[in-house]
Amino acid sequence: MKAHSNTSLKPFHTFGLDVHAKEIIDAQSPEDFLAIWRDDRYKTLPKLIVGEGSNLLFCEDFKGLVVLNRLKGISVSETDTHWHLHVASGENWHELVRWTVEHNMPGLENLALIPGLVGSAPIQNIGAYGVELNDRCEYVDVLHLDSGDILRLSAKECAFGYRDSVFKQSLKHGHVIVAVGLQLEKAWEPVLGYGALSDLAAKPSVSAQAIFDKVCEIRRAKLPDPYVLGNAGSFFKNPVVAASLGNKIKAKYPAMPAYPAGDHQMKLAAGWLIEKAGLKGHKLGGAAVHEKQALVLINTGDASAQDVVQLAKHVVDTVYQSFGVELEHEVRFMGAEEETSLETVCQR
Ligand code: FAD
Ligand code: EPU
Repeated sequence: MKAHSNTSLKPFHTFGLDVHAKEIIDAQSPEDFLAIWRDDRYKTLPKLIVGEGSNLLFCEDFKGLVVLNRLKGISVSETDTHWHLHVASGENWHELVRWTVEHNMPGLENLALIPGLVGSAPIQNIGAYGVELNDRCEYVDVLHLDSGDILRLSAKECAFGYRDSVFKQSLKHGHVIVAVGLQLEKAWEPVLGYGALSDLAAKPSVSAQAIFDKVCEIRRAKLPDPYVLGNAGSFFKNPVVAASLGNKIKAKYPAMPAYPAGDHQMKLAAGWLIEKAGLKGHKLGGAAVHEKQALVLINTGDASAQDVVQLAKHVVDTVYQSFGVELEHEVRFMGAEEETSLETVCQR
């Protein structure tokens, strides 16, 4: 385990902000995680587990210990009907997707090019192009940092929802995800329902590789590469609103994208609302609303954490004034010692 003091977090999160952590250390095994949590030198420090930092906004310097997940290893078994993958949580998600497609184990191709590690994927139940992690997840192995026990949670016990799971709720503290079990059906069916994949649906047969390539092409065209322009993907969730409010907005803007979402509710596209509120390309200091995808806030090069926070607040306020819709951030906000939120940071 290598520890570094007062280190810049710039290379360890995709927003690329110049913030520091008191200490940074790698964990290469579940035993490393336990040793860190039991080490007297670190006992009183706040701790934050980080994968690739692609869903994080550090609002200020972190006065604690950042623990980088570096758990590696993939094993595969099969039954007549399924491939079963047991993947250590520190493996890179996109590389796993690429590897499964190349080895004729289709099922993950719609989730290509999502940044981050395998162990972070269940936390917000990553999703894209009509597939969510929960469609392929069999179990999640979790290390309980007090007892040292590893528990296996079935997909049902993970309580997956839209950008949600038990890991953002009752298991938010005191646990590390150490491995994820995936099950991929051998009787593979392509998932082509998402509008942007409709070109492929028109073809007589389509391979997982073709879907993987198409998803990568669409994502490269729309989403900024975090290694070139700092960002954390969709900054806000797509809001689920009362159907009465959704229908009122739709009456004024019939072309607005909207999807049914259970009893008397509608899911709206936050990117559309932000664009329609006139904010595409809007800049505040070094932060900006991305020109090609208004749901993504970017670091144009020298943004401070405050620039991003103030821009996020401006977007929330403007969308509320324009449509009466409250946007909730998807990105996890980190304060000096613990997780925080846009609302809390702006009240200070
Ligand atoms: P991090 O940002 O490092 O961590 C996220 C949270 O999980 C933190 O609170 C952290 O403390 C906690 N955590 C991390 N690892 C563990 C662990 N092992 N045990 C317990 N807690 C842990 N998301 C989607 O769902 N769909 C998309 O299409 C998508 N596209 C994106 C595109 C871009 C360009 C970017 C930058 C992001 C995108 N995201 C998307 C968001 C992001 O990729 C996912 O949320 C991803 O799963 C985050 O992985 P990470 O390893 O970077 O997690
Ligand atoms: N739209 C606009 N203007 C914009 C952006 C989008 O009008 O600037 C419209 C689009 O034209 C489309 C609708 O909004 O009609 C939805 O857009 P898109 O298909 O690009 O998807 P999204 O809702 O913006 C969601 C996820 C992404 C995921 C894509 C593809 C959330 C918060 N975001 O984005 O996930 O990759 O769908 O499935 O659910 C992430 O979570 O970080 C992320 C990138």
